[in-house]
Formats: sequence, structure tokens, C-alpha cells
Amino acid sequence: MDAPRELNEIILPQTVVAPLTRSAIFLVVCIRQDQDAYTLVRSFCADLAGLIRAVEFRDIEAGLTCIAGFGSDAWDRLFGAPRPAELHPFQEIRSGSRHAVSTPGDILFHIRAKRMDLCFELATQIMENIGDAVTVIDEVHGFRYFEDRDVIGFVDGTENPRGDAAREAAIVGDEDPAFSGGSYVVVQKYLHDMKGWNALSVEAQERIIGRKKLSDIELSGAEKPPSAHSALTVIEENGKELKILRDNMPFGRPGHGEFGTYFIGYSRTPRITETMLQNMFVGRPPGNYDQLLDFSRAVTGSLFFVPSATFLDEIDPNAITPDAPQSAPVDVSTTPAPPSPPPVRDTSLKIGSLKGKKDE
Ligand code: HEM
Repeated sequence: MDAPRELNEIILPQTVVAPLTRSAIFLVVCIRQDQDAYTLVRSFCADLAGLIRAVEFRDIEAGLTCIAGFGSDAWDRLFGAPRPAELHPFQEIRSGSRHAVSTPGDILFHIRAKRMDLCFELATQIMENIGDAVTVIDEVHGFRYFEDRDVIGFVDGTENPRGDAAREAAIVGDEDPAFSGGSYVVVQKYLHDMKGWNALSVEAQERIIGRKKLSDIELSGAEKPPSAHSALTVIEENGKELKILRDNMPFGRPGHGEFGTYFIGYSRTPRITETMLQNMFVGRPPGNYDQLLDFSRAVTGSLFFVPSATFLDEIDPNAITPDAPQSAPVDVSTTPAPPSPPPVRDTSLKIGSLKGKKDE
């Protein structure tokens, strides 16, 4: 987009590698298909870091972070060329009764904090700024369940890479120099058939996951079937295990019989997560699929690129938005759209500049 990077410039990633938190909000929106909406969102992206800082500072100990990721179509319209080498729309997978659906999404906001009120406040501020320019596709409020378990009762996150290994797994490096410091993220919202799951014996559930339910210890090679979730999601290339960084969150509404897991996986190439999904849905070899899917249905699926924080900070809000459409309806057919907002005329965020010195 803007001027080429200086070789010695330090690129700061967004807070992809962050400690687990008690609360999270996952917000997926589509941008209204007109020039004004794109201009407003582009300007908002340039100011996002300041907005996060303002809410974070209300309780600095609570570790509020927010990651913004962009879908393939939205990327071109917001930022133009160059584009991240491996950014493309999420590819659906169908196999037997299993379906990894692909659903619309231009921007993902992944908001995390120890306190839900901070997540809630930031989501409110984000919508106050861009609400007129976007349609909300999905909003999920996740919570940390007992001992970091998911709602099906298993500890979730144990084999996540940590520290340097997490950065190595999740952050783009020299393989795509214009986008180093970025990350690819896949999200899928799963709903569980809790009646069916709870009708299984604990031993049967453990064979499906590949770990002991109470102790979280991995089943031994002899005990663990090749169809286990934690077998099919282990990918090796040239003797090296290829990891992704997950931050799944339980969510639900018991009064409505809704029990879910919001899957979110960051990686330096989407290829790894896509291979895991193939293994789960189609099977490795085909037919040897993940039986967790007999009790869990994916109702959303999207892929986003998370540019570095440096990239967002360098967006020139006054630059002309490339390729933004003049008018065309966005396909949000899977989600009822709220009434159309009035056209956006004033592109100011009405929060003043949040970027500190640079703009003074
Ligand atoms: C219904 C949604 C899902 C649930 C409830 C779930 C749950 C779990 C649990 C309980 C574990 C074992 C503990 C751990 O290491 O974290 C695990 C491991 C794992 N899951 Fe999932 N998962 C889900 C979806 C996915 C998806 C869609 C992917 C990838 C596309 C994935 C990738 C992984 C990976 C890479 C591991 C670690 C495997 C290892 O190294 O042992 N999971 N998951």
C-alpha cells in the first residue's frame, strides 16, 4: 500500500501471542458495499491502536487486547496491492454428513481480557465507530470454563506452543517480507450435541479426543486410535511438527440448549490449519475422520489475515481507498441483516486523533 519499508524498521505484530484470558468477544462484520463505508473503516483501522489503549488503560492489569483480521475480498478493497501471499476465502469442506461451512466475513475482531466488561466496552466503542458502515455477521461472547475445559468437559489448549515456539508457529517471517509480523487466522463456531456426547462413556469420549478427561494426560500410543482428534490434528513435515496457536473459548446459552466451542487458530500459513481441517472432516486416510464431528457442527467458517500492528499504524486515513465498490449488495444471506443505516457522509470518527504525537 504505502511507501516500501526500511530494511531496519522494527515490525510489531498485533497481540496474537498473548496469555490466556478469562473472557473474549469474537466479532465478525461485513463492510457495506460503498466507497464511504470503506473510507470510514480504513480510517478507523488507522486509529484502532489508540482506541484499544484508551479502554485498556481503565484497568491496565486486566490485559485487554484486540486483534483485527481482514478477509480476502475486504483486503483488496481496503488496502489494495500488495496482498498477503496466502490470503484467500475460507474453502468449505464436505464429506459424508460433515460440512465445514464457509461464511461471510470482512473483519474479525478478537477481543480478550481478564474482565468481560473491558471486552464489552471495547466492542461497544468499535461498533460506535464503524456501526454505520458494517453489518454484523456473528458475535460470540466466550468465557473460560472450569480448569480451561471446553463445554464437552476436556481441557483445551494443553498442546499449544508457548513463548518462542508460539511466535514461530503464528507469526509470518521472511517468507513474505511485505507482511512479516502478520498472521493468518481461521475461526469456526461449533455447536455441540450435548445429549449425544454425554450418552457416551467417559472412555469413549477419551478415545475421541485422545486424552484422559480428568487428568488431561495423553493416551498412550496403544490406547489412542488414529481417528482421535489429537492424532488427526498433529501434522508433520520433514520430521518437524507444524503447530498452530489456538485460543478456543466455550460459549452458550443453556436456556436455549446452546453449547458451543469457538475455534480460533492462528498460524504463519493457513495451509497448516487447512490440512488439520481436511484430516478432521475427510479423514487421514479418507474415512478415518474425527468423531468429535459426530457431536459438533460447524455453523461458521472464515479465514482472515492479521497484519502487523505497524502496518495498521501506518495506514494513511486520507489515502484514496483502492477498489472500493460504489454500490452492490453484500451477500449476508445466512444472517438476517439489520435495517440499512443511512448513508455515511461524515467520515470523521468523532473521537479525535487517537494516534498521539504523529498527528499533532
Ligand atoms: C469442536 C471444536 C473443537 C474442540 C472442542 C476441540 C478440543 C480439543 C481438545 C480438548 C484438545 C486436547 C487438548 C489440547 O492439546 O488442546 C485439542 C487439541 C488440538 N486441537 Fe482441537 N478442538 C476443536 C476443534 C479444532 C479444530 C477445528 C482444529 C484445527 C483445525 C483443532 C486443532 C487442535 C490441535 C492442533 C490440537 C493439539 C494436538 C496435539 O498436539 O496433541 N481443534 N482440541
